[in-house]
Amino acid sequence: CDKILSQVKCPQLELIPIIDSTNQYLLDRFGLLPKGAVCLAEYQQAGRGRRGRQWLSPFGSNLYLSMYWRLDAGMAAAMGLSLIVGVAIAETLQSLGANEVRVKWPNDLYYKDKKLAGILVEMTGQAGDAAHLVIGMGLNIDMPDTEGSDIGQAWTNLSQACDKLPERNHLAAELIDSLQKTLITYEQVGLDGFVERWNRIDNFLNRPVKLLIGQRVIEGIARGIDKQGALLLETESGIEPYIGGEISLRGC
Ligand code: BTN
Repeated sequence: CDKILSQVKCPQLELIPIIDSTNQYLLDRFGLLPKGAVCLAEYQQAGRGRRGRQWLSPFGSNLYLSMYWRLDAGMAAAMGLSLIVGVAIAETLQSLGANEVRVKWPNDLYYKDKKLAGILVEMTGQAGDAAHLVIGMGLNIDMPDTEGSDIGQAWTNLSQACDKLPERNHLAAELIDSLQKTLITYEQVGLDGFVERWNRIDNFLNRPVKLLIGQRVIEGIARGIDKQGALLLETESGIEPYIGGEISLRGC
């Protein structure tokens, strides 16, 4: 903790060697946490991903980080928040030498068409009108082959994306700093300015994709996001916004 705290201001930082899930840890304590509190772990026994998936969390080779945030604007603002978190992380990794890291709508980080990191934003109890959020990030740094575990998609490591891997404490400090700053900016200006930043580093921009919404598959060309954070998809009927679902490259 001290090595991270010497590089960044954080109202509360806990580094726990073994935990079920850093997101769950903060969700269980939200009433007691200062805004911006962070939990980091070396190993998660029950790391979780979006859509009820498991997040493989082997010891010591990755980064498992969660931050508590209170959004006074309420639940409605939470969708945009997960997008800006992706942009903040991608830009931070780029500034540390991983120049080709990209974002995938709504909130994954990609390198060379493979998943590098995932973001899981979870809401917790309502107190007044504010939304209480836990923003969790799992970043593969140097994960060994997953010994038969089925991750279900192509994945990669930060060690592949950088010539020189940043030191892990420094990486954590930079990510915490950038998350805090980005969340404060988001509270002040919403998604204004982010659309451009997103589109600049969108892994799928102008590429043929399929969007899976429940059982429905829509094929089209990805055209970035709009001011509400919806995915813009061009099909035969024109360009339309979509707010849910998962995209993948056509043919993959
Ligand atoms: C996804 O892509 O499905 C999201 C993965 C999020 C994983 C992180 S690791 C830290 C935090 N704690 C969890 O249990 N999940 C998130």
